[in-house]
Amino acid sequence: MFLRNCWYAAAWDDEVSETPLGRTILGEPVVLFRTADGRPVALEDRCCHRSLPLSMGRVVGETLQCGYHGLRFDPGGQCVAVPGQSTVPPGARVRAFPLVERYGWV
Ligand code: FES
Repeated sequence: MFLRNCWYAAAWDDEVSETPLGRTILGEPVVLFRTADGRPVALEDRCCHRSLPLSMGRVVGETLQCGYHGLRFDPGGQCVAVPGQSTVPPGARVRAFPLVERYGWV
């Protein structure tokens, strides 16, 4: 049993890079990564399209691109690009988690 809505150490700060890192935190799959400008981000590690772990994707600028069909998610979890189409379904998003970086931890 875990306390929810509390702060937890998710990783050492140097573990979080532009290579997505998958972790299980409180039983939830979470992907940690840094955007191109160095901002650490934590998203649900499950694409809203076909559920591929987003940790199998790659960072593209300020977004994380799914490794399966290429949907791209911003740091807030909103899908902002879908390959091959000009519109993005408004409900296409994954959960984003609050994250701070302090004392060598995120
Ligand atoms: S499973 Fe992620 S884009 Fe299709």
